This record gives sequence, C-alpha cells and structure tokens, in this order.
Amino acid sequence: MNNKIFSSGDYYNLFYENKDYELEAKYVHKKIQEYKSNSTSILELGCGTGKHAINLAKFGYKILGIEKSESMLKKTTKTEHLQFRQGDIREIKLKDKYDCVISLFHVMSYQITNESLISVFRTAFNNLKKDGLFIFDFWFGPAVIDQKPMVRTKTISTKNKTICRIAEPELFLDRNQVNVNYTYHDFDHSTKSFKIINESHQMRYFSIPELELVANETGFQVLNYEEFLTGLQPSFDTWGVSIVLRKNG
Ligand SMILES: C[S@@+](CC[C@H](N)C(=O)[O-])C[C@H]1O[C@@H](n2cnc3c(N)ncnc32)[C@H](O)[C@@H]1O
Repeated sequence: MNNKIFSSGDYYNLFYENKDYELEAKYVHKKIQEYKSNSTSILELGCGTGKHAINLAKFGYKILGIEKSESMLKKTTKTEHLQFRQGDIREIKLKDKYDCVISLFHVMSYQITNESLISVFRTAFNNLKKDGLFIFDFWFGPAVIDQKPMVRTKTISTKNKTICRIAEPELFLDRNQVNVNYTYHDFDHSTKSFKIINESHQMRYFSIPELELVANETGFQVLNYEEFLTGLQPSFDTWGVSIVLRKNG
C-alpha cells in the first residue's frame, strides 16, 4: 500500500476530467478584469496539472505555475507564456513580481496550520506588484459544518483500467479540519492485476473574519468574497467560496 498525497497526476486528471477548467478560468479572468483590468501576468500557487493556467493563457496572460508534486507537474504543458516550476508555495522565492497571484481548487484549504497559511499569504505578498490581486477559493466553514462531509465513491473506467475511489472524511471541529481519506482500488484489465492506493488529504475550512484577519496582518485588504462561479452570497449551502484581496500600497 502507498500512503502519499497526490500519488499520481494520472489519477488526478482521470478523476477530474469533467471539471470545467475553462469556465473557472473565465470566472477568474472576469474577477481580474473587475479589480485590476491592466493585469498581464499571473503567478499560480499549487497549479496541479496546469489546467487553469492553460485556459487563462488564452486570455493573453503570462503565467508561472508553482507546484510541489512532480507527478502533477509532469502533466503540464509549457509554452512561451506558460511556465511551471516545482516548489513549495510556503517558501518559494522568485525574482519577478506579478499583477495577480491565484490559487485554485482549494489549495489554500490544504494549508492546515496557521504557519503554513501565513507563509502562503507572505509568498503572495512578496511576489505581487503594487496593488496586485490575490485571488483564491477555499472551503467555507459554515457550509462544511452544516452539511458535514460524507462518504463518497466514484468509479472511472478507461480502456485499460477500472478505478474505484472511496473518500472517507473525518471532521476535527477543534482544528477546523477535515481529513479526507481516499482509497483507490485500481484494476488493470490487461494484466488482471489489482492494487490499492491510499491518500489522505488534510483540509482546513475557513470563516471570512479569519481570512480577513490573516489578510490584514500580511498586508492585504479584502475586496470581495462570494460563492465560487455563481457570485452568490455565501450561505450554509456554499462549500466553495472565492475571495479577492488587494496588496496594500
Ligand atoms: C486539489 S489540487 C488543485 C490543483 C490545481 N490548482 C487544480 O485546480 O487542478 C491541490 C494542489 O495543491 C498543491 N499544493 C498544496 N500545498 C502545496 C504547497 N505547500 N506547495 C506547493 N503545492 C502545494 C498540491 O500538490 C495539489 O497539486
């Protein structure tokens, strides 16, 4: 058995093949246009397999994606305007400054300790130009607590494989944390072999005042927060909220 986080970029792309990255990139582009329309460069923290980046590049942005998982990075496609680098977003130091920093699909919720969270805010601050934007989405605490994470299964079949993924969550109210324990049952049709892979994703949910506090302490002001994609006011039904911050001065 394997006990890694994001053991495979292959699994990731398979399980999220229906995620609408194009629509999400359009939404982020709209937010950028709304709050800093002269933006031309983006730093993406936790870019995964680079699917938001590739769609955002279509709007003309120059993008650098940072990702710690080598197997996710292997799935990215570099172009002249689209570059990727391996690194930890809590400590990476870059020479260029960007108009916008983005971090999507709950990357910020993977920052479960206060130290990690603050470090990523500092990375965003240090790599933004004056008045730059920091845009990210996150698990919204009121909805997580009200709805409660549930056991979910998903099966994907390809020509060669059938993979069943079971997600079993554990909620830790004292830490604002949910550990999502994934088990992948992977059957290879041609070799008739079977393997089991375990991954544990430790996720933190946030409240708005909590993020506002961290933002203000690290040199940002909150410009907007809303339900991710719809723009609706966050409610007990809103698991994913996006927030737009502006770097002070
Ligand atoms: C759910 S995935 C999202 C990936 C991508 N943003 C997307 O939308 O497909 C979360 C990603 O955050 C990355 N990540 C989490 N913490 C990180 C850190 N400290 N440094 C670099 N990458 C990190 C993980 O490796 C993973 O690829």
